[in-house]
Amino acid sequence: MNDALSGQHELSMTVLMTPDMANFSGKVHGGAILKKLDEAAYACASRYSGSYVVTLSVDQVLFKQPIHVGELVTFLASINHVGSSSMEVGIKVIAESIQEKVIRHTNSCYLTMVAVDKEGRPARVPPLKLETSLQKLRSDKAALRKKLRKEAEEEARRTHENHYGVQPR
Ligand SMILES: CC(C)(COP(=O)(O)OP(=O)(O)OC[C@H]1O[C@@H](n2cnc3c(N)ncnc32)[C@H](O)[C@@H]1OP(=O)(O)O)[C@@H](O)C(=O)NCCC(=O)NCCS
Repeated sequence: MNDALSGQHELSMTVLMTPDMANFSGKVHGGAILKKLDEAAYACASRYSGSYVVTLSVDQVLFKQPIHVGELVTFLASINHVGSSSMEVGIKVIAESIQEKVIRHTNSCYLTMVAVDKEGRPARVPPLKLETSLQKLRSDKAALRKKLRKEAEEEARRTHENHYGVQPR
């Protein structure tokens, strides 16, 4: 493994929004952005861990502003938190209209990626070095989100069991 690349916790991916990404109203399809978010998270987490990774969850994604065909969109991905096998990747999305020279922060979201071995079982990932106060803050907030996600999953499981009398599959 090349040490210059493995262990890097940040990644930037810039993509030109092409006409094939447009929806019926001519703006970029939300699904096209979701796919790119997943690709950026995959690239960031697999390079950091040096493993194959799968997507465990995507937190709420809000599209408060449309993205237009012809814009350059940059996905700024960062490993916020690392557990034994899971990594939370935070992604900030920046859209740049080339002619108008306007840069907009369109949205941010969090994806949880899990490193897996050849059998698809969770595999250990290297601990994250928290070198700055910003990294420490991001890690603490990510740890809280992980706890809340697990509580929500457990609550949903209990509700299902109470309703149907069996555990969800
Ligand atoms: C990801 C996968 C390998 C995890 O398997 P699992 O048996 O649930 O494994 P674990 O219970 O050990 O959990 C793995 C990690 O996910 C974390 N995790 C599990 N449920 C979680 C939740 N609801 N919220 C946040 N993290 C969670 C665990 O804490 C663990 O992380 P850690 O080791 O850093 O603490 C398995 O669920 C899977 O293969 N999912 C399908 C992935 C996929 O195909 N994605 C593409 C969708 S099309």
